[in-house]
Amino acid sequence: MKDTIIFATNNPHKIAEVQALLGDAFRLQTLAESGIKADIPETAATIEGNALQKARYVYEVTGADCFADDTGLEVDALDGAPGVHSARYATDGHDFAANNRLLLRNLEGAASRKAHFRTVIALILDGREYLFEGRVDGRIAEREAGCGGFGYDPLFIPDGFDVSFAEMSAEQKNAISHRGRAMGRLLEFLRNRE
Ligand code: IMP
Repeated sequence: MKDTIIFATNNPHKIAEVQALLGDAFRLQTLAESGIKADIPETAATIEGNALQKARYVYEVTGADCFADDTGLEVDALDGAPGVHSARYATDGHDFAANNRLLLRNLEGAASRKAHFRTVIALILDGREYLFEGRVDGRIAEREAGCGGFGYDPLFIPDGFDVSFAEMSAEQKNAISHRGRAMGRLLEFLRNRE
């Protein structure tokens, strides 16, 4: 295994989370460090499709080993919404506060508040494509709590807990989160190839 791999993101929250998970197993290179300044298109209809679209873009430009992740919050009572549209649920931008307000409004009176986060990682290694998935089940709280994490974290209470992701330390969240689990599968795969 080569020890440098491009992670197709410039999101500082994700880079910090993932670097903590990876330790020194290999060196993560960000998009900026790889010379990619353009916004990578994310126009697929599914979470898997978006992860693959991003990884393929980076591979075509750099020819280097790389991976990309895509995540959605899928809410049972909303037929899986916001899902692949999680980032732009309420507005065109990544307005976390507006997304959370809209989610609470759309769930008013709902019989179920069950939801899960799902992350798919697309890895391109030596030109071959691999997919890894991680999921965490939980429920959407009645109101926001906590100020850690990002996105829907203040509203998401994972099963087995009575606090939101935003009330947990980064280590606690990483240990059970969708992205933590997907990254764990990616890491296991990479380690088994060494
Ligand atoms: P992305 O594919 O990782 O960029 O995630 C898409 C959107 O899902 C983000 O803009 C957030 O709104 C939401 N999201 C992704 N991961 C998390 C998380 O760990 N906690 C809360 N929200 C998240």
